[in-house]
Parts: sequence; structure tokens; C-alpha cells
Amino acid sequence: MTEAFNLPGKGLGKDRVLSKLDEALAMEPDKLRGNMSCYAMKGTEEIVDVVSAAYQKYFFLNGVARRFFPGLQKLELELTGIASDILSGGAEGINANVTSGGTESIFCALHAAREWAKKTKPHIKEPEIVAPYSIHATFSKGCHYLGLKLVRTPVGADWRADAEAIEKAITPNTIMVAGSAPSWPYGVIDHIDQLAAVSKKHGLWLHVDACVGGFLSPFVSKLGYDLPKWDFSVDGVTSISADLHKYGYAAKGISIVAWRSEEYQQYHYVSPTDWPCSPYITQAFTGSRPASAVAAAWAAVNYLGEDGYMAYADRAMKAKARLVEGLKSIEGLSPLNTDLLIVVYGAEDIRVEQIVGGLSEKGWTSGGVMDPPLAHLVLDPLSDDVVDLYLEDLQAVVEQIRTGGSTAEGTLSYAD
Ligand SMILES: Cc1ncc(COP(=O)(O)O)c(C=O)c1O
Repeated sequence: MTEAFNLPGKGLGKDRVLSKLDEALAMEPDKLRGNMSCYAMKGTEEIVDVVSAAYQKYFFLNGVARRFFPGLQKLELELTGIASDILSGGAEGINANVTSGGTESIFCALHAAREWAKKTKPHIKEPEIVAPYSIHATFSKGCHYLGLKLVRTPVGADWRADAEAIEKAITPNTIMVAGSAPSWPYGVIDHIDQLAAVSKKHGLWLHVDACVGGFLSPFVSKLGYDLPKWDFSVDGVTSISADLHKYGYAAKGISIVAWRSEEYQQYHYVSPTDWPCSPYITQAFTGSRPASAVAAAWAAVNYLGEDGYMAYADRAMKAKARLVEGLKSIEGLSPLNTDLLIVVYGAEDIRVEQIVGGLSEKGWTSGGVMDPPLAHLVLDPLSDDVVDLYLEDLQAVVEQIRTGGSTAEGTLSYAD
């Protein structure tokens, strides 16, 4: 049974409220070790300061009624324009919408594809989406809400979407193919050019889920790393989801869904007129939304600029290289070859659940992949400060397990 909580009869006052929040914060994971965890993607104190100040400035405004707030409208237009440019969507103008996060961006793309198919493929009554096994769970969730069938196909030996398997799974009911840049479980960017060729051949919508890589991969590429292309420069990509609240270093609650052209974006909008007020037009699925999230994201992209994002990417990718080298040097551990800042590793002779359990006793919050069992970490520029400490603790945990000294059992689950 859950504990009952009552509204205080008399308000607690500012000091008590804030000190109770401090108590809750003290229960959160170790701040230093949190710099390498399953939920990182944070910038330095410097960007956190700028983003918090920007968030405060727009704290009171509601983004649902942008028409009343020309300043907010201007910020959002600039933000979507910058995002379009980063995603190589500039040529056909700004065709992007702000959403509350990756889940909403993907939901909107699935919805737009469904509406597009109603118009262009009216014979389809039970629309299907084909995507690799590795596509984020939020596709399953979105398909559930939208009455779509998601068909997941096996990934290849390199953990990327297998274009042949995708093509084989296409039926007369298929409306969309989707791939990731990169996938959450295995951290690799799918061969979007191959998926684009298949999609074009069958006249299908292609969505690229770049929630993790959207504001990271372009800068890592500019640093000279060789990454597969996945943005609008690939002919056949119809829509992209890219999260500003991940490697855009904005405050939580903001993502972008971008469209190849206005032709596709038009299927996104829903404007009900069957009520007593005017047509209800919103930017995405949510109604009321924090204008502060837009202001904070605008501040992040403008404060950092290309050189700032490149410096963060450089620092984080170097930290990742050190971590991966360190993992390889611990006998029995095998990190996968990932493209960006997700690091996953398995173990030969010991159970990964035990490694994760041992690490959690030392204050590390690793996530996991269940199939196959892998420890799952997400790095950011601050990870640089803790790579050595992590490797030291990991080495000790592995030795402890091998000598029968630790039986701590962790979980590879992300369940809430
Ligand atoms: C690849 C990918 N897509 C979508 C999402 C969902 O994003 P959000 O948690 O912002 O809704 C995530 C979250 O981690 C992700 O990794």
C-alpha cells in the first residue's frame, strides 16, 4: 500500500520547502559518478548557468498561445531554423516543430505518416511500420496509441538495421520504414542510405530517430570521425526526431521533429474546429507547454554555437576512447563498437547483472540492455573527469566477483 500524503493545512514556507527539496536532492545518485551513467548528457556548469538563467526569464509564459507572444514566436522560429540547418534541411526552408521530447517527436512523425498514407495510399486499412529490433521502445508506444502495427526486424552482425530484413518485412500495408542515429540499445547509427533506397523503391515514408545523435553526430563528423550519413542530405529521408534536451544541452522538455518539406509537414497539423472557440492550432501534440523550455534551448544553441558543440563533442569522444581502451584491457569484458557516446559492454565469464550490482554499491548508476545482457552507459563532456575512477572501480568489482567476494545483483532494466 502506498503511503497517504495530505496537503499541509498551513503552508510550510519558503525555507522549509527548499530544505525539503535539498533533502530529496541528497537522495539522488552521487553527482560526480553521475557524470558517467545511464542518464548523463549534461554540459559543464557554464552552460547549466546560462540555460537556467534563460529558463527563469520565460518561466511564466505558456507556449500554447504563441500568437500573443511575438518574442517567443521569434525565438522558436530561430530555434527551428537552426535545427533545420544542423539537420541539412536548409534547402527547402524551415520545416520543423518544437515538441516536449523524443517521445512526442516520434509520436508526431508516426501520426503524420499515418495521415499521409490515408491520403496517398487510401487502400491501406491496417497500416504497418517496419523498423529494426533496436528502434526505441517509444515507437511501440506511439504505434499503440495511433493504431499502427510495428514490425521489428533482426539487426545485422554489426548491430545495425539490416536493410534486406527490412525489405523482406514490407507488405502491401507498410507505410513507413524507420532507423536510428544511433540506436539506444547498441549505440550504432543505422545505414540510413540503404534504408532510404528501400523506402524509395517501395514509395514509403522514412523516419530517422536521431533523438540521441541529432545535436551530436554533425559535430562529431566535423571533428573528422567517420560516421554514416543519416540527415536530410540522404535522399529519401522524410522526417527526423532530434532532442535538444539530450546533446543540445538544453533543459529537459524539448525536442525537434523536422520534415523534408512543407508537403510532409502539412500532415502533422491537426486543427479542430468543432468547438465554441477558434480552430485549435498547436505546434505539436501538447497544448499548454513551457515557453521556458524554448528560451533555454535557444540560449543553449546560441551560447555554444558550432565551436562550443565541437569542443564538447571532442572532449566527450576522447573520454569515450579512453573508457573503451580501459574496458578492453579488463580481461573478459567486451565493449561493442559504438559510433557516438553510448558505451555498452558485455562479459564472457561473469554475469553483467553482477557487475552492474557491484558498481551500484560503489555509487555508479549504469543502465542495461537485456538482449544480449550488456551494461549501458551514456557519456558527456563531464565523463572525462570520471573515466579513471570508473575503470578503477570496475576492475575491483570484476576481481571481487571472480574471487567469489561479491554477489551483489544489479538490474539491466530501465523500467520506472
Ligand atoms: C533513440 C531514442 N529515441 C527516443 C527516445 C525518447 O526520448 P524522450 O525520453 O526524450 O522522450 C530516446 C530516449 O532515450 C532515445 O534514446
